[in-house]
Amino acid sequence: MKVSDIKKVACVGGGVIGSSWAIQYAMRGLSVALYDINDEQLLKSRGQMEKSLDALVGHDAITQTQKAEIVARVHPTTSMEEAVSDAQFIQESGPERLEIKRSILAQVEQYAASDALYASSTSGLLISEIVAEAAHPERCVGAHPYNPPHLIPLVEITRGEKSSDEVVKTVYDFYQSIGKEAVLLRKECPGFIANRLQLALYREVQDLVMRGVCSVEDVDKALVYGPGIRWAIFGHNMIMQMGNPGGLTGMVKMLGNSGDVWLADMASWTHQPDNWSEVAQPGVDEEMAHFPDYVGHTNADCIAYRDRMLIEILKLHKKL
Ligand SMILES: NC(=O)c1ccc[n+]([C@@H]2O[C@H](COP(=O)([O-])OP(=O)(O)OC[C@H]3O[C@@H](n4cnc5c(N)ncnc54)[C@H](O)[C@@H]3O)[C@@H](O)[C@H]2O)c1
Repeated sequence: MKVSDIKKVACVGGGVIGSSWAIQYAMRGLSVALYDINDEQLLKSRGQMEKSLDALVGHDAITQTQKAEIVARVHPTTSMEEAVSDAQFIQESGPERLEIKRSILAQVEQYAASDALYASSTSGLLISEIVAEAAHPERCVGAHPYNPPHLIPLVEITRGEKSSDEVVKTVYDFYQSIGKEAVLLRKECPGFIANRLQLALYREVQDLVMRGVCSVEDVDKALVYGPGIRWAIFGHNMIMQMGNPGGLTGMVKMLGNSGDVWLADMASWTHQPDNWSEVAQPGVDEEMAHFPDYVGHTNADCIAYRDRMLIEILKLHKKL
């Protein structure tokens, strides 16, 4: 299978992630079958897609005509055979339960061509376990998106023990070809890359607050107006590279072992504080109360502000 052979994608499971994947593929001109278990779920998927597309229209990322074309490329179905029999790429986004993932793959294998590529959106299961009973494990990979996939470029591809080199390369090239930014886990690793980074940082966020070093509001502010604003442009290795005339090497030399004292003092616990939400929720409520009016003060206001900003950032990154 070559990237140029991929004309039709089957999105299996049309919930939060599956319906967003459907938009992503249809926005890139591909024909999409959107499979779910019943008409009620498909109706919900349709509603979610409408809402997401209306937000894109509202932020001038697409026109009404483009919206109509995108919707017309998505074909909802409750027939697995209709969804996958002539699809070259299958994006599975069913419930996060091993037995369901295995049963979906078994159904797909009944109808799909044996060389159709199979990518599971799983957040936490290992692809090698999902494919344990598969007839063609070589064409399967993990492909973890960040929510919502049609807006967040990252997709984390995991090669399973039995994934073939050719499949991994084609899946990688395919995602890149539709504007995703793919990263490759050369071996399986729980939490993949991005969620591990996020959790490592969040442990320190929690620890700083629990130790009384700073408020919930200030730790968020320190992140957003400090490293966060740079991280939306470059990754941390590049931040190091640009921070010194000698590049990353110069920066490492300059910093020496000065960070060791901080490292020795930083959180290393492996169980989150049980009372974290009791401590953090009042802090978050206060943080929201202090936002300027253009951000807003309710959850709904903040979500709308986040989505507006996200679209602007994506435009700057030439992703929309
Ligand atoms: N929600 C997130 O933030 C997020 C992010 C990245 C990855 N994921 C992963 O994506 C997958 C889907 O998550 P979600 O949040 O969209 O869940 P969801 O509950 O919103 O959607 C799951 C969909 O699968 C359908 N379904 C149920 N049984 C099925 C079957 N046998 N065959 C096909 N479809 C079936 C459901 O009707 C539902 O529409 C999970 O593996 C999850 O770990 C989720």
